[in-house]
Amino acid sequence: MKNNLDRLRNVPLFSLIDDDQFEQLKKSSITNRYPKGNTICNCDDRPDKFYFIDKGSVKVSITNDEGKEIILAVLTEGEYFGEMALIDGQPRSADVKTREKTTLHIIFREDFDRIFKENNKITASLLHKTTQRLREANKKIESLALMDVYQRIARVFDSITVLKDGKRCIEERITHQDIANMVGSSRERVCKILKILEQSNYISKINNIICINKKLPYNF
Ligand code: CMP
Repeated sequence: MKNNLDRLRNVPLFSLIDDDQFEQLKKSSITNRYPKGNTICNCDDRPDKFYFIDKGSVKVSITNDEGKEIILAVLTEGEYFGEMALIDGQPRSADVKTREKTTLHIIFREDFDRIFKENNKITASLLHKTTQRLREANKKIESLALMDVYQRIARVFDSITVLKDGKRCIEERITHQDIANMVGSSRERVCKILKILEQSNYISKINNIICINKKLPYNF
């Protein structure tokens, strides 16, 4: 039977490693399963691991001293995290928590340093991903600084809805608090805006899944 880690071979980043390096990696890395809501790493932790998501998803967030959280990203199957602190030698840049039952492949620092830093193609691939994430972060800064809460919600809906039976819907149940944490606002404010959108028939909720009925206006 195929080792679970063989699945990594099909992932763009790991397809760049040569066979010997990959066999070595398989011997030293581990696979762990985590329940929903499990903290994988905390902002300011000292790093020693790199994580690859085999199944499930995680949320990357920052929380201030008053407990207010902003979600920076949701990472799903096939994506990785934990590279930043390993590359710059600083503490973790964000908290990472599982959003559901999640399986992670864990690569330890020595392997990351040896394999990833010595392989130019891997370095280029990491840089490419970091650039994409920076673009997303720029969009987030733009929306936090220049948009009102309604516009931020509309933008989040735009990015997380998928086309289903001709309608754009959020694929999973998502709480008002989750949306508030994505747009940097309060749950109460988000509830109010969603209620008005629902009353005006812009959105509807089917089994608590939000669907967009018609294009949301730029201002509301
Ligand atoms: P690291 O800083 O080691 O630990 C937290 C990880 O979250 C970080 O590495 C990245 O892998 C990931 N991360 C941090 N900020 C973002 C972001 N803005 N978008 C996507 N992933 C991020």
